Parts: sequence; C-alpha cells; structure tokens
Amino acid sequence: MRSHPQPQSNRTKGGSAKVKKQLYIGGKWVDSGAYAPLYSPYSGVLLAEIPLATKEETERAIAAAYEAKTVMASMPAHKRASILEKLSQLLAERADEAASLISLEAAKPIKAARTEVDRTIQTYKFAAEEAKRVTGEMIPLDAAPGGEGRIAYTMREPLGVIGAITPFNFPMNLVAHKVGPAIASGNTVVLKPASQTPLSAYFLAELLEEAGLPAGAFNVVTGSGAAIGDVIVQDERVKAISFTGSPQVGIGIRSRAGLKRVALELGSNSALIVDKEVPLAKLIPRCVQGAFAYQGQVCISLQRIYVHSEIFEDFVEQFTAAASQLRLGDPLDPNTDLSAMITKQDTARALAWIEEAVQQGAQLAYGGTAASGMVLPTVLLEVDRTAKVSCEEVFAPIVIINRIQDVGEGIASINDSRYGLHAGIYTNNIHTAFEAVEKLHVGGVLINDIPTFRVDHMPYGGVKESGIGREGVKYAIEEMTELKTVIINRT
Ligand code: SIN
Repeated sequence: MRSHPQPQSNRTKGGSAKVKKQLYIGGKWVDSGAYAPLYSPYSGVLLAEIPLATKEETERAIAAAYEAKTVMASMPAHKRASILEKLSQLLAERADEAASLISLEAAKPIKAARTEVDRTIQTYKFAAEEAKRVTGEMIPLDAAPGGEGRIAYTMREPLGVIGAITPFNFPMNLVAHKVGPAIASGNTVVLKPASQTPLSAYFLAELLEEAGLPAGAFNVVTGSGAAIGDVIVQDERVKAISFTGSPQVGIGIRSRAGLKRVALELGSNSALIVDKEVPLAKLIPRCVQGAFAYQGQVCISLQRIYVHSEIFEDFVEQFTAAASQLRLGDPLDPNTDLSAMITKQDTARALAWIEEAVQQGAQLAYGGTAASGMVLPTVLLEVDRTAKVSCEEVFAPIVIINRIQDVGEGIASINDSRYGLHAGIYTNNIHTAFEAVEKLHVGGVLINDIPTFRVDHMPYGGVKESGIGREGVKYAIEEMTELKTVIINRT
C-alpha cells in the first residue's frame, strides 16, 4: 500500500503549509474570487486550494510590479546581490521542505527534487554574483573617421517589468532562472507558474519577502494559463516575457507580444551518438539517467540514441538491463527512481505513442506499459523517423535506440528534427568530435556526455523550434536589460 503524507494546515500567513493559498500581489497575500483544488499527481490526495486569478487580479499584479520598478532600478547592485544571497541562504535552511513540496506537487522523486533544490540554491548564488557585474564596455570611437576625440561606453539598464511563465517540470529552478536574473539586473517580476506546480512559487514569495525584496518587485498569479498568460503577454507595461514550455504556446506568445523582448525555451527531442570503440561501462548508467530521470519530463531528456552498428547489440543489452533495475513508486520514497506522470492524459499519450511506434515496425525491448499513472521505462529499437516517439518531444520515460553505420548518419538523424536544444556524442576520436560540433544544428553540443547535462551558469537555449534567447544567469540578464550607449566628446 502507498502511504501518503497529508498536507498540514493552517499557517495564518500565505505560507507554504497553508491549504487555502492566496495570490501574492504588491507584497501582500490576497484572497481571490475563485479557487481550484490541487491534487498530487501520484496519490490523488488534495494538496491545496489554489486561487484562480482573474484578469483584474493579474492587472493588479502588473500594476504593482510597474510601481515597484523605480525602486528596483535605483537599488544599488550590492543590495540586489545581498537580497539574492539571503534568498539562497533561506532556501538552503529550508531545503528539505522545498524538496518535499516539489515532490508532492510534481510527483518528482525526492532524490531528484533534492537535486533541484540544490541547483536552485546555486542559481540564486550565481544571480547574487552576477548582480555585481552587470557591466558595459568602452568603445574607442576614433576607430571610425569622424569619431576623433570621442569615446563611448555602454551600460545595461533594467527593462522594467518581466513576465515569467514557467513549466511544471522544474518548479523551483526554472523559476529561479527567470526571477534570479530579473532581480539581479534591477527588474520586477510577475510570475505565472504552471497550474500543477504553484506551491513552489508561493514558497519562493515567502522567502523573497523574508530576504527583504521590496513590495511589488515579485508577484505570483496562479490559475488558468490562457486567462493569465494572455494578460501578461499583451499588457504594455510588461517589457519582456521569459517563457519555458511547449513550442505551440511559445510561438503563440511571440506572435502576440508585440515589441516586447521574448525569450523562449521550448523543449526538444534531444539525441546522442555513440561511436564505435567507446567503452560502455561508464556510459550506460549515464544514458539511463538521462533518458528516465523525472519520468523523462525534462526538456533535455535523452530521447534518441544512435549507436554505431559495431557495438549496437552490446549497448542495447546493457542499457535494457540497467533500465529494468529502476524502481517505480511514491515520489517521497528515497528509493524511487520514477513516479507518476504529471497527468493521466500524459500517461495515455505516452502509451499511444509507444503503440504507434510498434505499429510502424519498432521493436519493444523493455517497458511499454503503465500502472497507477506510472509509465515503465520504455526502450524502443529501430524506430521509424516519422514515429512520434522520434520526431516529437516525448516528455515521458521512453527512449529510442537506432543503429547507425557511421557518425555522419547519426549527425544527419539528429539534425532531421524540428528541434535543436542539446545533442551529445561519445567518441574516442577528436576529429569526429569536432565534426559533430561543426555539423550539429543545436544550441549546445556535449562531447563525451549526454545532452541532459546542465549546470546553471552555462548558456542554455536552442535553435529551430527549441526556442530563442539564452538562459544561464549572465545570459538571461542580457535578455532582460537594454544597452544604453554614452558618447563623450572631449574636443
Ligand atoms: C528544462 O527541462 O528545460 C530544464 C532542464 C534542466 O535545467 O536541467
């Protein structure tokens, strides 16, 4: 039998342990007119009642952020840095609570949730550091005829209000990738978290309040994606949108955002090439982790593996054996590797896509079924390029392994995609590695690692339908600031 921890009730503030949540607007916890129940994707237990912000409430949040923008823009860098340092420290103090929240609302296995909290602490630390180096450059204008006697320097100014729209799969760290850089560079934020994972966002609001962020600089509005998202995307006072989610929604945002800056991180069907003569012992556990961590619900999850025919059989045998060792169960159990999919619809979709691949001739080497909302880690071999498990973003614990005759064939297969976020290659040959770097059409190439690798200060983003713009605190700050040029005439 599963045993389910019950959410505790009732702190009086808008705190993380309170069952009936409130919107966070202008530094105050406020009731909304309507609420919806939030259930655990794993157990179905009621976790909280979540406010459904109306258009007017969303506009109030934007107004609060707009009013606070002057305070934030004039706040010295050392003060912005110390708020972010304090935030990072408060999160470290409450790390267990934070991991449990993620695990409960997102059905993320607790060991992965703990890793996410550790990464979030890092992301805010990086943001604190970057707050102190939002710099420009000096430009010698006499490099152009007519520029004699003049110099110029550039500086970066905050845009003002940033609209952050975030997904369910990393409810703390992908929020941190928007909130951290925004505060570091003197902006204010209206956050619309994914409707399945609002608790992490409210938890952050508590911490930011305690860290001393001025009222209005951070606001949380929860509820239906379209109602709130449309208001944020179209309001003139919001100067940039930072969105992580599906290409369909991202493309819609871009088309409605007018002249706003738009940064989009839209997912992928990330792939890996395994060249001949690569020793498999270290590589297999890494690939299994990349394919199945958090049920494959990661934008850079390892979805397609192209293995050289000389080692194909060995690879498949060892990979399948390792996948079969993974444990499914309660996300709060420290031994659990995979838990429930985020929704029942995603479970049904995963099974339908597996079935479609098999109908198209793929061989099911492991998995292919689901129980209690949990999809078994699934390994499909020799999958047709048109099957959805190959050409769409699968966002489920499904991996395909196809045989290739050479690395060139692997590169062509990887590039044969609407997406281009990360791709990896394991090879012993440096020339082959650089050939892959040159030819792969993606935002990041991993040599001798899986495409699922990410640390939080590196540039992160994709090409094609994987998005536009880059995250990674320093790079996100560039997206959230305006370059101003100052020209000095000393003649
Ligand atoms: C994502 O799923 O977009 C983020 C992956 C990560 O941060 O590791």
